[in-house]
Amino acid sequence: MKILSIESSCDDTSAAVLADDVMKSNVISSQNFHTKFGGIIPELASRAHLKAISPIVRQALEDANTKIEDIEALAVTSNPGLVGSLIVGSNFAKGLAIKYKLPVVPINHIEGHLYSGCLQDRSIEFPFISLVVSGGHTNIFLVESYTKYEIIGSTRDDAAGEAFDKIAKLMGLDYPGGPVIDKLAKEGNPKAFDFPRPMIHEKHFDFSFSGLKTSVRYFVHKTFSDGIPEEKMADLAASVQAAIVDVLVTKTIKSAKQHKVNGIVIAGGVSANSELRTKMEEESKKVDLFSIAPEMQYCMDNAAMIAFLASKKIEETGLAPYYDLSYTVNPSAIRASQK
Ligand code: KG4
Ligand code: ZN
Repeated sequence: MKILSIESSCDDTSAAVLADDVMKSNVISSQNFHTKFGGIIPELASRAHLKAISPIVRQALEDANTKIEDIEALAVTSNPGLVGSLIVGSNFAKGLAIKYKLPVVPINHIEGHLYSGCLQDRSIEFPFISLVVSGGHTNIFLVESYTKYEIIGSTRDDAAGEAFDKIAKLMGLDYPGGPVIDKLAKEGNPKAFDFPRPMIHEKHFDFSFSGLKTSVRYFVHKTFSDGIPEEKMADLAASVQAAIVDVLVTKTIKSAKQHKVNGIVIAGGVSANSELRTKMEEESKKVDLFSIAPEMQYCMDNAAMIAFLASKKIEETGLAPYYDLSYTVNPSAIRASQK
């Protein structure tokens, strides 16, 4: 089975080819120009997808040494995300489907992240806990199979990536702030400043990051009223990162122990964070759980995870349901009640 997949839910345009369970290509084009606006401008994101999508799809086919005529199914992210961005990928897939008489498997972006650990390591055994942390989402999932999962914890306000981005902004750093804080933190002392770890000791597995952002803002205004001195930037970055990572790791490990699973997968843009990757691995080892952090190309928004999950859905149901092209895009996130 040869699947061509497309991902365009936010600010990355990506296409991938999966052939007989082997990921042959995964091309990702990131819209770096949003940096100068300090955040993603949805209208500009959709226009950039429109420009990029055709060459990216062509590149993915070329890298996989595959012709479009050999593709047997398409897969595309249909939700959640920025509606204009989703429409570009989704309509492109529908156009190809009509021209080449192909089925299209619509995929939920968060589900794509959720199973990216399985794409990384095909030997993973269910059940496991998946921490999906990105700019828009922070959820702990109990994953029992490719069709059965449950949200057992969510953020009640800001997502972890949003906290990284907003705190970076108030530190005067570029967007997206997560990778910038990660890099700066390598030179700093994580114990230099003591920031709150919201909800870390509570029994439930929900998160809250907006209080941390407020606390950093007050601290900065009070302590560095004339601006943050250059020599304190790395310490501040390391201390903020330590607070976010501490909460994410502690709650994820606690949920894994309570649900007696085999291990933990981290996914989504924030799972690229070096401290989160190291700390999750160390803490999982201590309690005999496997821990998987997918390689970078599968952590960020990517079409490979979309093709992989589509292949699992096709295994389950065959291709027949996916010749119906009436699916629509939906910007809303998965809610806790959904299984
Ligand atoms: O999954 P993703 O690429 O897009 C969304 O679906 O949101 O995640 C983007 C988020 C941004 O908030 C970005 O700051 C964060 O992931 N991020 C990181 C790192 N790399 C990306 N956060 C912390 N450390 C990183 N190294
Ligand atoms: Zn994402």
